[in-house]
Amino acid sequence: MERRWWKEAVVYQIYPRSFNDSNGDGIGDIKGITEKLDYLSDLGVDVIWLSPVYKSPNDDNGYDISDYQAIMDEFGTMADFDEMLEEAHQRNIKIMMDLVVNHSSDEHAWFIESRSSQDNPKRDYYIWKAGKDNGKAPTNWGAAFGGSAWEYDQNSDEYYLHLFSKKQPDLNWENPRLRREIYDMMSWWLDKGVDGFRMDVINFISKDPAYPDAKVQKGSKYGDGSPYYLNGPKVHDYLQEMNKEVLAKYDTITVGEMPGVNVEEGKLYTGEDRHELNMVFHFEHVSLGDGKYGKWAPEKWKLTELKRIFTKWQKGLEEDGWNSLYWSNHDQPRAISRFGNDSENYRITSGKMLATCLHMMQGCPYIYQGEEIGMTNVSFASIDEYRDIETINAYHSFVEEEQILTHDQLMDAIHKRSRDNARTPVQWSENSYAGFSDVEPWIDVNSNYKEINVKKALQNPDSIFYYYKRLIELRKEYPIIVYGSYDLLLEDHEQIYAYTRNFGNEQLLIILNFSEEEVEFKLPSKINFTQQELLISNYDVKVSESIESLVLRPYEARVYLLK
Ligand code: NOJ
Repeated sequence: MERRWWKEAVVYQIYPRSFNDSNGDGIGDIKGITEKLDYLSDLGVDVIWLSPVYKSPNDDNGYDISDYQAIMDEFGTMADFDEMLEEAHQRNIKIMMDLVVNHSSDEHAWFIESRSSQDNPKRDYYIWKAGKDNGKAPTNWGAAFGGSAWEYDQNSDEYYLHLFSKKQPDLNWENPRLRREIYDMMSWWLDKGVDGFRMDVINFISKDPAYPDAKVQKGSKYGDGSPYYLNGPKVHDYLQEMNKEVLAKYDTITVGEMPGVNVEEGKLYTGEDRHELNMVFHFEHVSLGDGKYGKWAPEKWKLTELKRIFTKWQKGLEEDGWNSLYWSNHDQPRAISRFGNDSENYRITSGKMLATCLHMMQGCPYIYQGEEIGMTNVSFASIDEYRDIETINAYHSFVEEEQILTHDQLMDAIHKRSRDNARTPVQWSENSYAGFSDVEPWIDVNSNYKEINVKKALQNPDSIFYYYKRLIELRKEYPIIVYGSYDLLLEDHEQIYAYTRNFGNEQLLIILNFSEEEVEFKLPSKINFTQQELLISNYDVKVSESIESLVLRPYEARVYLLK
């Protein structure tokens, strides 16, 4: 397997709106990021993935872009951006932009032209269709944020497709002129010095040209059109073209966000000779426990399932391709609340355990802002405190319109899975508004900020922060962590996740207790535990301790280097 700089990178995701407000308007901004670069440099991350900072009416917090080459007013100016880029580079931190090109905003100049008439030269930049003979939408597909995926435009008398909100019309990748515009825009950013792209729902860009109606699940109003746009017929052609026209000319880091991708497809997107992307985000582990109404009816999940998923991806991309490793991002709940234990007793220990689990695997670890201090989910009491379009729309449709779920049922699901769990402001200190801003922020701060904040974490050598820092250092010190192969141990164990990594004649042994009980770990006989060194652990461990019969403490994590 080839060694590449980006395979050795640890990525930190910034959701700018919630990161740090420098100008006292309650909204995070670019200067606020620049102010914190020393903090990120201290943590040791190599790359920042910046959620969108482009001009946007913010129907979906910047994932609806109205100008790809301008900065959102609330976030600052292009000069602020250039300064941030330069300051980041001075600290050896690269910047990966969010590229949202499955759709734009309906306020983008292209769409304004496109909708102006059926014969406008930009009409074909978007996906327009006549309604069915009975006057209904062209297909029965539902949109991700509720309602139909088609919106009728009175003025030009056709429907346009929007897989997300109706303010996010899908771009028509069939059109070579549109593709050229996108490639030129990407090159413009790369010429400016940015280092790569995280590509939003990039496996949605090629739609089945037949536009068939989709199957409708019992109890649903709309069909699930995803078979007709996930990993569609031309997606690999488009990505190879993008690679040839743009990416191959620079030394970039790229990751495609891909709901519904499986390992086989993952190999096609990331294989060395495929010339498409470096890595993909799959959704298998973050979908664990999805119930009848997906994340809005969450159920318990099993560790054996989690292990099966990670192992499948680790083994699947081991020879060719590359994994991205994440517990959380701006669309997911907080890692500790979702996969660990956010109670006072176990928050810190389980946070360290989860970090160990992920950071010892093969692939690039992604840290979502606040994860490094163990931020947790928020439980706002009222739906009025939520800001996320997906959460608010789900409330309207499930509770108010269709009355499928009660208020209490949906609030419970929201507390567990809403995207706003990840979007409350980063907790910098015990000061008002958690030191994020001087004024009331656009979304409330989590009430636990006096207990959980960066200032406190930096003062405590045992904090989650320093544990992450050490994990990142270890990755730089030991090539086995980056390049070693992976093997699962104790496949059927419901509480312990244990695996090895192998590289040359070195071996790593990773032992993790995912439960709040004490659990006995039996060392499999194939492991030779004679010469060992403990690289990291989240409890005190006696150096001479044998692990022939070991009782793991709640959420205990240990990593041994065996020689
Ligand atoms: C995925 C993004 O991560 C999410 O925040 C957004 O709402 C959708 N794509 C649409 O752009």
